[in-house]
Amino acid sequence: MTDRYAVFGNPIGHSRSPTIHAAFAEQTGEAMRYAAIEAPKADFAGAWRRFVAEGGSGANVTVPFKEAAFELADTLTARARLAGAVNTLSVDADGATHGDTTDGVGLVRDLAFHAAPLDGARVLLLGAGGASRGVIEPLLAANVTSLTIANRTVAKARALAELFAECGEIDGCGFEDVTGPFDVVINATSASLAGDLPPLPDDLFLDGGVAYDMMYAAEPTVFLRWAGDRGARTLDGLGMLIEQAAASFALWRGVTPETRALREQLRRAL
Ligand code: ATR
Repeated sequence: MTDRYAVFGNPIGHSRSPTIHAAFAEQTGEAMRYAAIEAPKADFAGAWRRFVAEGGSGANVTVPFKEAAFELADTLTARARLAGAVNTLSVDADGATHGDTTDGVGLVRDLAFHAAPLDGARVLLLGAGGASRGVIEPLLAANVTSLTIANRTVAKARALAELFAECGEIDGCGFEDVTGPFDVVINATSASLAGDLPPLPDDLFLDGGVAYDMMYAAEPTVFLRWAGDRGARTLDGLGMLIEQAAASFALWRGVTPETRALREQLRRAL
């Protein structure tokens, strides 16, 4: 029996998830198929139920359905509850829908892959939307010394800091109040999509500091170019995409794939 999985999004045409999971299945010898499904924006739940009725075993969920998947899940992991979003669905033995999120662990593992330590680091997280919220708890759990959330709308940064106050050393502010330097600066805003750069001080990075953009493209984002000019080591979000997929795959199949070869293959194809 070939088990069926899919990624749900809208739009979904450019998703790399089918390529990634096909490569993982081949590498690990798991018998599975993985498709891309464009669900109607107003009816993610209907699309998921149809997929399950047709024998689907699990799915990844991407923009704009991560919150809808959170609402729909019958059971949730603690980390999905904290993230307020779900990127991985599984069908339990009793047919119930289980929701988890691997985005945060994907980021943490990608930083580890690149030998960018979080343990003891001063970390700045730019943005206070869903992408930011999804990585806060895993960053704090990685033993950072402090986590500062900076956002254009200051109230949203403060609200997130309050929400996670029990998880570790965290505060929220506006871009103009950012006081560096930091070991790691992560851009979780969607500003890169528009080619925008949050207004940030020039002395943002410690020696050997890392700039990470959750976005990725063939060319470095405007944030990574800016950071590189200020001496930072720059990393984009392609590795996070691959690592979150590997973590989802492990949840479904019980085996964690190796990611190095795929990283090189996807980078060349960008
Ligand atoms: P996502 O799920 O990608 O996080 P989102 O929830 O819409 O999407 O959040 C987008 C984030 O990018 C927000 O933090 C937003 O700032 P505001 O909360 O002030 O809206 C940030 N953002 C988007 N465009 C930006 C820009 N041009 N400059 C700075 N921040 C921007």
